[in-house]
Amino acid sequence: MKGIDIEKIKRVATEAAIEAGLYAIGRMNEPREISYKSGANDLVTDVDKKCESIIIERIKNNFPSHSILAEESGEHDKDKECFWVIDPLDGTTNYAHGFPVFCISIAFMFEGEEKFGVVYDPNRDEFFTAEKGKGAFLNNREIRVSKTKDVQSSLVATGFAYNVEGKVANLPYLTKVLQFSQAVRRAGSAAIDLCYVACGRFDGFWEFKLKPWDTAAAQLIVKEAGGKVTLLDNTPFDIFTEEIVATNGIIHEEFINKLTC
Ligand code: IPD
Ligand code: CA
Ligand code: CA
Repeated sequence: MKGIDIEKIKRVATEAAIEAGLYAIGRMNEPREISYKSGANDLVTDVDKKCESIIIERIKNNFPSHSILAEESGEHDKDKECFWVIDPLDGTTNYAHGFPVFCISIAFMFEGEEKFGVVYDPNRDEFFTAEKGKGAFLNNREIRVSKTKDVQSSLVATGFAYNVEGKVANLPYLTKVLQFSQAVRRAGSAAIDLCYVACGRFDGFWEFKLKPWDTAAAQLIVKEAGGKVTLLDNTPFDIFTEEIVATNGIIHEEFINKLTC
């Protein structure tokens, strides 16, 4: 990455995630303005927007020429070589209800490849990071995926899209996984779900209809922790594709076979 100061990128991303996370926690017990995007289940709060502006301001102050894709305000400019992908609050519905599962997710990409990702869960003060080729970390301690050997012994997670068709489309898969896994969880933050695969709390995760900001940072964290991330047909995952299957790698083929049989 010629001319790129990756240490500065890591520092700015980290500080931005912490500042936004602490802001969100600080507003937990205060009234929030809720508005609706694509429909009645697709919420955004004033806190999502404020978190996003905190993060963008830090990035713009430090890297004025970089391009940013952020959930609530879209694409900011066209410089694609250095590209940031931001979910200012992943788990907005949880946040709006005071259910303490949400996080801040920030990824940095260079020439189309994810180079650094940070996911900050301010409720647990858990800070997940990964740099391409350098491993994955939780609060600065290296993490690895689980060693679970088969799907029957696996704890897995999923999520549901905001629109009804999207939710219903996942039901046949959920029905199968409920039968062949140990248990299924749906906590409401795809980035946290993926980080839990990375640190071995979950053995697998699948979801459809995700956006780049949901997955950009956390999928790198899974890969750097030794996990596998693909599409449902086991071909390579790309943050601009909507479906994802992430596992500890060991159960990957079995999980996909059972999901799709
Ligand atoms: C949502 C969460 C949720 C997932 C949805 C996402 P948001 O993101 O990650 O777990 O099931 O598909 O859209 O809207 O809270 O940032
Ligand atoms: Ca999200
Ligand atoms: Ca969000």
